[in-house]
Amino acid sequence: MEYILQCHEIVKTDFVRAENCFLYDADGRRYVDFESGIWCTALGHNHPRISQVIESQLKQVIHLGTRYPNQIVEDAAKAVLDVVGMEDGKCTFLISGSEAVEFGVQVIRRITGKPLMLTFNNSFLGSYGSAGTKKPEEWFLLDWLACKDVEECLKQIPFDKIGGFAFEPGGSGISFVQFPPAQLIHRIVEEIHKRGGLVLVNEITSGMGRTGKWFGFQHYDIQPDIVAIGKGLGNGYPVSVAAMRRKVADLLEKDGFRYIQSHQNDPLGCAVAKEVISTFREGDWVEKGNALGGFFLNELNQLAAKHSIIKNARGRGMLLGLEFHPHEKITATWMYNALLEKGFLVGYYPAGNLLRFDPSLTMEKENVVSLIESLDEILSGATL
Ligand SMILES: Cc1ncc(COP(=O)(O)O)c(C=O)c1O
Repeated sequence: MEYILQCHEIVKTDFVRAENCFLYDADGRRYVDFESGIWCTALGHNHPRISQVIESQLKQVIHLGTRYPNQIVEDAAKAVLDVVGMEDGKCTFLISGSEAVEFGVQVIRRITGKPLMLTFNNSFLGSYGSAGTKKPEEWFLLDWLACKDVEECLKQIPFDKIGGFAFEPGGSGISFVQFPPAQLIHRIVEEIHKRGGLVLVNEITSGMGRTGKWFGFQHYDIQPDIVAIGKGLGNGYPVSVAAMRRKVADLLEKDGFRYIQSHQNDPLGCAVAKEVISTFREGDWVEKGNALGGFFLNELNQLAAKHSIIKNARGRGMLLGLEFHPHEKITATWMYNALLEKGFLVGYYPAGNLLRFDPSLTMEKENVVSLIESLDEILSGATL
């Protein structure tokens, strides 16, 4: 790759075709994608319904100026609000997860007038803007893993100075698939709301069925004010959305809030989002993904019981991790390469010695079984 900037690792450059959870390289070799691209293709690569809607929308209208949102945009917003549980709320469609989260942060600062936001030190919120840089003057970062208990955690937080809480319920950041306790989240949200603050949930990774429910926040008994959704919403097409309660939208609209970018509320992205949601609903993919995730975790736990090099298996729905004890040969990186040779793409995090799996919810059980068999074979064959 002579002309592609090397700003992250590049492993393989000849994937030419994709179908559901399979990728095919130029030699026709098939790989099973346990990462869904980068956690995006919740319904599998090139889902026929999504490809078809893209094709048909391309022939109608791709893009319109911000003054001219059409019925597709309105229908997509209604579909999003229905699944989020904010039926009378409002939406704005954007391009990336980073943008939707950053939009939510801007909204909270605008409404509360308080520059300081709360999030966890290990939450990933995006690649740019205030949420990307998390400067100390703008963010209070709580290390929830280091707290003795909920009350000790709460005591550290300067709630009076804080305008909002950006909660990432997918364990995506450097916590490596570890989910904060429900009681802590519940109490933080309570304290934030008590002071007129707002709660933004970052559902970029945890949304669209990834954690076994439509959205990650639904594992917690909380009512967010703004929900940022991306990745699975476009199933590989770049569209995201910030959905908000009606009271938040009213405050912004009354206050003359302005936010404009070139592809905001584009009909093509909205047509995709709307079709993705219908496909999810009609196929019961949240429930099916949750069932397959339960099976997958059980299989990983059995593997952990058999191989002492495995520290633990953990996960929620179809977001799973397998952590290894430190070992000079068998590391997450080594396992990644061994699996790649066998035709599996998985996530790996050397710092956490962890393999991560975020497969499409549409994956077949037999593909999970064959990954488990391969893991077993690799670990059994390795000299411990
Ligand atoms: C939890 C979380 N938030 C935000 C983002 C940023 O989304 P995007 O890469 O679409 O900008 C990501 C991307 O991986 C993510 O995992």
